[in-house]
Amino acid sequence: MQLSNLIEEMMQTPSPIRQIMKMASKKNIINMGLNPDEVISYGGGWVGHHSPESLRKKYMEIAGDGQKFYHAGGYSPTLGFDDARRILANFEKKLFNVNAKEENVIIGQSSTQLTYDLFITLANDNDTILLFDPTYANYPGQIKMALKNAKIIRLKVLDEEIWQYESADTLSEKFKEIYEKEKPKIVLFPSPDNPSSQIFPEEFVETISDVCYDNDSFMILDYAYKTQVFGKIPAYFSWNPEDKPHFIGVYSNSKWGRGLGRRLGWVIANVEIINAMERAQQCSILCPDSLHQMALTEYIESGLKDGSIKKYLDEVRNAYKNAAEVTVNAIEEYMDMPCLEPQGGLYTLMKVMEDGNEFVKRVLKNTGVLFIPGEGFGDSLKQAVRISYGPLVENIHVIKEGFKRVAEYLKK
Ligand SMILES: Cc1ncc(COP(=O)(O)O)c(C=O)c1O
Repeated sequence: MQLSNLIEEMMQTPSPIRQIMKMASKKNIINMGLNPDEVISYGGGWVGHHSPESLRKKYMEIAGDGQKFYHAGGYSPTLGFDDARRILANFEKKLFNVNAKEENVIIGQSSTQLTYDLFITLANDNDTILLFDPTYANYPGQIKMALKNAKIIRLKVLDEEIWQYESADTLSEKFKEIYEKEKPKIVLFPSPDNPSSQIFPEEFVETISDVCYDNDSFMILDYAYKTQVFGKIPAYFSWNPEDKPHFIGVYSNSKWGRGLGRRLGWVIANVEIINAMERAQQCSILCPDSLHQMALTEYIESGLKDGSIKKYLDEVRNAYKNAAEVTVNAIEEYMDMPCLEPQGGLYTLMKVMEDGNEFVKRVLKNTGVLFIPGEGFGDSLKQAVRISYGPLVENIHVIKEGFKRVAEYLKK
């Protein structure tokens, strides 16, 4: 069987994260002589809290009402329902003071799909795309799929020696230098970040934005973890799409609403980009899911009115902040290894001082504790692992237990 050259090539370089998750499958765990019930995983890049009860009730109301359920079975417009777009713009206004309107919003299946469509909308096949090192592991594969011949360049943002992110000044200088040399068409990064849970400093993000604006490039900010900032909210979280025509925010309800398996994504950007995305989305998914749009619209509308959505987001944020603290404290108590202080999101990065892949395999086989090797996020994490407290947020006591077990094994 002859598959496409592209997919044949991509199958030769499988994601190291998927590989390790396969290695930690129930069957493999049993083959290793371990008890699957005793495995402690810091591997999952997802959230473990519950969706709002009032959102669940909206789904029940729709399913219980023949007329609404019928409506949910119809296609929505490619850009999404007008009232869903309006309510998402309003949500951003109320939470972050973003002055977006319905015309600035396109709703899609997820931020994964929208990011893919953005590559096609904004760049040509042979353009250059700038990613950070480390960064979200899915981007390079998505770029390759969307723009076969694109060149991916990396800006190193982590100082491996001292295990700290570089200062805003250093990052800005390094960015200007690499931009000048490579002229990327798109600069893409998350903030808060996956895998580091760092928030990029305001001056640095402003520098990127200014340089992109002056040179007709685009800056895409992946806001998967926007509602999960533990400290001060950066000023760029409030940028308005019409004031920054080259700036694009990509959003998702995966993380904050625990909607991973029933998710929606949306993009907030200037109208010209939204209209162009409409054409791309006609070809990729035709239109977003109607049922999820209806339930989310009704939930956000009532939740903004009675204040329950803000309360829910505050509670969720505090739960992850607490989980982050428990994780960092356990690493300090049991492991003699440096880690980053999470500023939001679900993760920390621990420097293990040996090949991360080998470390992860060895630890899994001997302790039943799973970390994710850092390499898939960029070369700077070859000797590091990503630790996720996301899935354990409602199971905090387990966090400490895993590190204790690993420390006992490493002492031997
Ligand atoms: C930075 C980042 N962007 C995007 C995604 C995926 O988002 P979605 O569920 O909307 O496809 C993830 C998921 O882990 C992520 O960490």
